Amino acid sequence: MRIGIIGVGEIARAIVTGLLEGDGPPPEVLLSPRGAATAAELAARHGTVRVCGGNQEVADGCDVLIVAVRPQDRQALAGLAVAAGTVVVSLMAGVSLAELRRLLATDAPLVRAIPLPAVRERRSVTVTCPPHPVADALFDRLGGALPVDDEDAFNVFSALTSTLTTHYAYLATLSSWASGHGIAPDQAERYVRGLFADLGRSLSDETRSLERLAADHETPGGTNERIRTTWFSPANATALREALDALLTDLT
Ligand SMILES: NC(=O)c1ccc[n+]([C@@H]2O[C@H](COP(=O)([O-])OP(=O)(O)OC[C@H]3O[C@@H](n4cnc5c(N)ncnc54)[C@H](OP(=O)(O)O)[C@@H]3O)[C@@H](O)[C@H]2O)c1
Repeated sequence: MRIGIIGVGEIARAIVTGLLEGDGPPPEVLLSPRGAATAAELAARHGTVRVCGGNQEVADGCDVLIVAVRPQDRQALAGLAVAAGTVVVSLMAGVSLAELRRLLATDAPLVRAIPLPAVRERRSVTVTCPPHPVADALFDRLGGALPVDDEDAFNVFSALTSTLTTHYAYLATLSSWASGHGIAPDQAERYVRGLFADLGRSLSDETRSLERLAADHETPGGTNERIRTTWFSPANATALREALDALLTDLT
């Protein structure tokens, strides 16, 4: 299978690395010329990766076309000819299947997907919509596909992925709070990283629900319960839900 990618930035780099450093025969990959430094680096590192002269050359030469430009650069697709037998996988956040169909004016199957940077190590599940055997097999190689039929459900997953950097900012705030109380910044960061790395391991235990995990880590009347109920109060939880609702409205 030949995979073409239009828009060679961070997520394209993660996908190519994940595909080519995994098991199995390496697929042939055609890259668009924009994002020249990343494209050249990937082609130099992997023998089956080639940089094309333009976006149309990518579309003409592949069986699966991954669109990985930023949503504001979607006009890159206008005028592109895509054969009906090519499977198009769009990664652009907030660009609906209907808009994609209008932009590309093709009868080709269209799929939306939300890969995360951890596809680089083939350990992240990618939501796809609608399910398609070719697209889902591609993401199975990168850690697993989670196909959904309904685009509204897909947008809910898309909103969830938008909470990642808030989580890092939360950890940075904890670390800076400790520094403000006289702990050396490197010690504070090291400790916070260790604290939450362990939480990551607990999350991989799928036999316990998230609510169960929270309860199992909390002594009734203890200090974890105190911070959860005083800081992550119902008002705080409502503010988070409202921010997600507003984002979902925009994504839909
Ligand atoms: N990063 C993530 O974790 C992630 C996860 C899921 C989905 N996505 C989606 O994936 C897309 C790319 O995200 P990213 O973070 O990889 O962005 P990025 O690093 O900014 O990469 C976008 C690339 O598209 C290139 N480009 C711009 N206009 C183009 C055109 N007309 N033809 C061909 N290439 C063009 C840019 O080239 P120049 O540098 O020359 O402008 C750049 O190399 C976005 O739509 C985003 O919503 C990203």
